[in-house]
Amino acid sequence: MVSPLWFICCIIPFVSSFNAEQSKLSSHFVLVGEPIAISCQIAKVPTLYSDSNLTWYRNGSDTPITTETHSRIHQRDNLLWFIPATLEDSGLYECNIRNSNSSDKEYIHLNVFKNNDGLCFNGETMYKQKVFMSIGGKITCPDMEYFNDENNTAPEIQWYKECKPGFLEDNRFLSSKHDIYLMINNVTMHDKGNYTCQKTYTYMGIQHNVSRSIYVDIEEGPKKTPPVFIFPKNHSIEVELGSHVIMDCSISSSISTLNPYWQVNDMDVYIFDDTYKEEFYEKPSQEGGYIIGSRFNISTVESKDYSLKFFCRVLHPYGQAIAYVVLKHPAPNIQGYLIGGLVSLVFVIVVAVFVYKLLKIDIVLWYRNSCHPFLSKKVSDGKIYDAYVLYPKNRVSCLYSPDIFALKILPEVLERQCGYNLFIFGRDDLPGQAVVNVIDEKINESRRVIIVLVPESSCYSVLEDTSEQQLAVYNALIRDGIKVILIELDKIKDYTHMPESIKYIKQKHGAIRWKGDFTERSHSASTKFWKNVRYQMPPRQTVSPSELQLLPPAFNSQHTITLQR
Ligand SMILES: *[C@@H]1O[C@H](CO)[C@@H](O)[C@H](O)[C@H]1NC(C)=O
Ligand SMILES: *[C@@H]1O[C@H](CO)[C@@H](O)[C@H](O)[C@H]1NC(C)=O
Ligand SMILES: *[C@@H]1O[C@H](CO)[C@@H](O)[C@H](O)[C@H]1NC(C)=O
Ligand SMILES: *[C@@H]1O[C@H](CO)[C@@H](O)[C@H](O)[C@H]1NC(C)=O
Ligand SMILES: *[C@@H]1O[C@H](CO)[C@@H](O)[C@H](O)[C@H]1NC(C)=O
Ligand SMILES: *[C@@H]1O[C@H](CO)[C@@H](O)[C@H](O)[C@H]1NC(C)=O
Ligand SMILES: *[C@@H]1O[C@H](CO)[C@@H](O)[C@H](O)[C@H]1NC(C)=O
Ligand SMILES: *[C@@H]1O[C@H](CO)[C@@H](O)[C@H](O)[C@H]1NC(C)=O
Ligand SMILES: *[C@@H]1O[C@H](CO)[C@@H](O)[C@H](O)[C@H]1NC(C)=O
Repeated sequence: MVSPLWFICCIIPFVSSFNAEQSKLSSHFVLVGEPIAISCQIAKVPTLYSDSNLTWYRNGSDTPITTETHSRIHQRDNLLWFIPATLEDSGLYECNIRNSNSSDKEYIHLNVFKNNDGLCFNGETMYKQKVFMSIGGKITCPDMEYFNDENNTAPEIQWYKECKPGFLEDNRFLSSKHDIYLMINNVTMHDKGNYTCQKTYTYMGIQHNVSRSIYVDIEEGPKKTPPVFIFPKNHSIEVELGSHVIMDCSISSSISTLNPYWQVNDMDVYIFDDTYKEEFYEKPSQEGGYIIGSRFNISTVESKDYSLKFFCRVLHPYGQAIAYVVLKHPAPNIQGYLIGGLVSLVFVIVVAVFVYKLLKIDIVLWYRNSCHPFLSKKVSDGKIYDAYVLYPKNRVSCLYSPDIFALKILPEVLERQCGYNLFIFGRDDLPGQAVVNVIDEKINESRRVIIVLVPESSCYSVLEDTSEQQLAVYNALIRDGIKVILIELDKIKDYTHMPESIKYIKQKHGAIRWKGDFTERSHSASTKFWKNVRYQMPPRQTVSPSELQLLPPAFNSQHTITLQR
């Protein structure tokens, strides 16, 4: 049983809430001569007390109240029944709940009241309800759920105002005979007052009256506003062909008595197509008004449904509101495509970068071989040699032979196989020329400087810091910006004894290590080592004969040399 508002405060715990066996007290009231059924709140926690026995006692008695249903006071279906209540029944009752694991008890205080003189109610037994002015509202006849008749039909409810019937003749009031609600339209201040609802309850062939009295207060309500559509809002929704769609016309309204309904082609939906099923609902909204709705199902969306406008209409005291929704085919998932495309693009780029890193040298060399002659139309840079080769001269015997490498292997591959034009100091310099002048001049005419390094441990000295090398490296690095290619003839662990410039180049561009042998047998230009060297070498400056003739004489002489070599 739901207690009226001002009795809820009286549900006070008897003992400290830290006690496992908590006890509660609640109050109930009834008019003398009327039946009442009292429920035990703690029994409504089903998980805690599954499989349990509930027993009612009168305060101070160890004997349970009888379960004999003919008795005026008895317990039945976990309820304590008084059919009807007498004044002596006022007092404390106890309900005990127990299963194999735990037990709990609750106290109930029953007050049996006499009617106030000349009235059909007692002023202390009033329920309080509130109705808003101007708009519609309803009064509810409370706590009637246990008083259906033997064959479980709810008997007619009679309404009285200030204990007098007849006020329902005012057509602002609307009650359906078996409903616990009394509707009021166009509420005024005069509607404030004491309302009583009454129905009969027949038990064991005897009729009893069950009545509830409600003090209805009238308040300024929310403003008179037409209902607002929550759905639909003259928009379209994406729906798959063949899917099951629930169309929910939902309005927010200060009036509870509105009745929205769906129409298609000016026909109610269920007339238009009997596969559309409509149902209505209503619930209070948080703002004090109501959410009222009507929803219908399209069990299977068909092609024809996409061409229809589904209207939801609602008539209200100030006119008519209308809104519609149309179905449309779902748009392809552009976002998905975009993300997918982007991801694969990134993947392709990553793979491309990875492949390029891996095959950079091969790609560049292939490009030079296949495309360069056609694409390279740039004017000659005025240099004669592709590389100036610098290597330590063999004064004492070395474990590795820089002589063989620089004078045999290097020219064999770079000059003979790849067509480069090298200046090798010690091979190409003419006797009698001033060394420093020759170096300075030749390096200036070279596109690269190749420095061959020999590990210190295997030789008497790697590179003496002679003026020759000093000058060469200085020129290459600083003055002309010529690129230097370092070739190690074996792993060089320690660069600390090297000149600063060599250390700098090693750190900046690294060195290429020779892993081959020093025999004079033929070496292939397509080993990893030679690919690395060729990659660092400039592209070959091949010039077609027709181009040659168009070049100015100054260039001609240089290229003639290149081509002769
Ligand atoms: C409940 O019973 C106890 C002991 O039997 C008694 O002292 C107490 O007054 C009773 N309370 C009521 C409200 O009857
Ligand atoms: C509940 O009552 C029935 C019969 O009255 C009894 O057989 C059963 O043991 C009781 N259960 C508990 C948990 O007390
Ligand atoms: C009693 O507790 C045990 C163990 O917690 C549980 O398995 C059993 O289902 C409980 N019995 C009841 C009637 O709740
Ligand atoms: C409602 O009943 C109370 C007595 O309980 C009375 O004082 C009051 O005047 C009544 N209200 C109206 C509007 O008659
Ligand atoms: C219960 O139903 C039967 C027939 O269905 C009817 O004769 C009887 O009057 C009903 N009882 C009450 C209390 O309405
Ligand atoms: C409520 O008031 C409006 C205008 O004030 C009126 O048109 C309407 O008929 C009234 N409704 C009832 C049920 O009296
Ligand atoms: C029930 O109430 C009505 C009117 O209020 C009265 O005529 C009738 O005698 C009452 N019946 C019982 C059983 O009290
Ligand atoms: C709509 O469909 C659901 C699920 O099929 C069903 O539960 C519900 O009752 C249907 N409503 C109507 C109004 O047919
Ligand atoms: C929705 O459309 C109906 C008629 O098609 C129109 O009366 C109504 O004002 C429209 N509502 C909105 C919010 O545009």
